[in-house]
Amino acid sequence: MATTCDVAILMGSRNDWPVMKKAADLLTEFGVSNESRVLSAHRTPAAVHEFVRECEAGGTQVFIAGAGMAAHLAGAVAAQTVLPVLGVPLAASDLNGLDALLATVQMPPGIPVATLGIGSAGAKNAALLAVSILAAARPKLREALRAYRQTLTNEVLREKLD
Ligand code: RP5
Repeated sequence: MATTCDVAILMGSRNDWPVMKKAADLLTEFGVSNESRVLSAHRTPAAVHEFVRECEAGGTQVFIAGAGMAAHLAGAVAAQTVLPVLGVPLAASDLNGLDALLATVQMPPGIPVATLGIGSAGAKNAALLAVSILAAARPKLREALRAYRQTLTNEVLREKLD
């Protein structure tokens, strides 16, 4: 199956979708084409490999991978592509995501994964970082990111305390 999105999002379980959807929604808000798949580093390694191959062939430029527990998905993707891979550690066990954070961030030298924070904040920042990467060659995306930042600024400045 051909995959022609700019940003491919992978997650280890359907249960990860409520958090990873925040990344997908933000990318869509910026007009960046994206596609999300449930694929597991441990349970479907061959399918991960195949999806990365399809994405590369279709012109994908950035991968985002979210996983919990012994979260090897981002690393497994990074092992198969030289394109940027953004890892989102998810809270899926009694360790509340600290397990996934360490598993995602502690890549051996040579195979980098840009690791974001745990959970929703990490998912949103992964989307924004993906937009930043694409924005290096797309001035309109740079403008859109500046406008987004201005919205955040305005929201803080509008805050009123009781
Ligand atoms: C990881 O294990 C997934 O990313 C998920 O966060 C965690 C638990 O998987 P499920 O039992 O929810 O399928 O592979």
